[in-house]
Amino acid sequence: MTLPVAEKTSSVAAGASSAILAAYLRRTGKSRQAHARARILLPGGTSRQAGYWEPYPLTFDSAEGVYLRDLDANRYFDLINNYTAMVHGHAYGPIVEAARRQAARGTGWAGGNLAQLELAGQIVERVAAVEQVRFTNSGTEAGALALNIARKITGRPKLLMARFGYHGSLMEFECGSFGHQGPVTLLATYNDLADFEGVLAEHGGDIAAVFLEPVLGSGGVVSGAPAFLKGVQAAARKAGALLVLDEVLTLRFGHRGVQGTLGLEPDLTMFGKLIGGGYPVGAVGGKRDLLRIFDPADLKLFHTGTFNANPVTMVAGGVALSHLTPEAIGRMEAGAQTLKDALTGAARKAGLPFSVNHHGSCLNLYFSDRPPHASMVRQDTALIGRFHLAAMNRGLFLAPRGMIALSTVMTPGQLDEIGQRAAAALADLAAEAEDLIPEPAG
Ligand SMILES: Cc1ncc(COP(=O)(O)O)c(C=O)c1O
Repeated sequence: MTLPVAEKTSSVAAGASSAILAAYLRRTGKSRQAHARARILLPGGTSRQAGYWEPYPLTFDSAEGVYLRDLDANRYFDLINNYTAMVHGHAYGPIVEAARRQAARGTGWAGGNLAQLELAGQIVERVAAVEQVRFTNSGTEAGALALNIARKITGRPKLLMARFGYHGSLMEFECGSFGHQGPVTLLATYNDLADFEGVLAEHGGDIAAVFLEPVLGSGGVVSGAPAFLKGVQAAARKAGALLVLDEVLTLRFGHRGVQGTLGLEPDLTMFGKLIGGGYPVGAVGGKRDLLRIFDPADLKLFHTGTFNANPVTMVAGGVALSHLTPEAIGRMEAGAQTLKDALTGAARKAGLPFSVNHHGSCLNLYFSDRPPHASMVRQDTALIGRFHLAAMNRGLFLAPRGMIALSTVMTPGQLDEIGQRAAAALADLAAEAEDLIPEPAG
């Protein structure tokens, strides 16, 4: 939500007695100046809502390995890794080398390249429900394409998704992210199978596809119960709707995705983020039978894009995926557990209400005794906002909503240091938390 400027200024002024806010302002003057310029040139001062926070976002200068560096030369451990995309951290040597080599050999042409066969081959080899892959430039585009495929195949107009699910920055999905039904978007409650079954029973004849994240990412790292995910799959099939499993974020949780771990068999799978090795990417995968609508000899669905499967993204993604071994996934997950334990202990010591959602290498932090059913309905926005600033002051960068996604290159020693820095940030928060803790409801 965008606040009017006057209100915005006063909310910053109201926090002026905060030592955390004062330290942030003191440490990040160049980011403040950059944001003032950005507000003139970019609407809202950014091209990306998830890269904005109050009082102004950091502007980064560079990134390498587990570190980010801002314009004021402050260094941060990156605990969000571009919302999970940088699964091997920043400027990962083998990816830099592959991308550099490719850039020198050309970065795009209107014809085939072998690198896309290599990346598609890896995806097909890993994910049993995928026989063919169609590349796009973002997860959002993959969602739009999956919706078009489902509409073309079924001849139906609508989609069903989880309330507070996220499938990209597209109107049809956004109303679901904000929790309100749209003209073509129907909603049901995540992890509530009866709700999904009920909507499918009532509206099944209009529903082209059920879109589903196996773990809610933006919604706050909420694991889908296996029986729920399998039940939605069965209900979608019964209603004649396609199941589109959104593994844009969750591919990092398993060598064959969450669908491989749980034995799900979606009709279509959305991919993105890590399969681009840090470059823009998305993809839709599925069985040959369904995807033959793209067969140029009998074209049913037109889809093209100037940068689809561009060779730089393809070579970078090929390296990223091949280095994401089961061992590397396990290492990240162990790191997340270590960090969760450290944060929980430190929050308890600081006397703060605290809970964590955890799936694999991702965490979502809450300053409440129990996590809410989705981040969008949290009561602790003042506390998490202040903690976000406190963490940056202590050299840690996580998502403003408290999400953390680790990378494969973080060492146990670095995790220890992160735990200590987080404990210091939690103590800073506890020192000024009194006014920010919401009254218990009722
Ligand atoms: C589950 C999921 N689907 C789709 C998307 C959209 O991907 P992109 O940001 O590349 O458009 C995201 C991005 O956060 C996501 O987490």
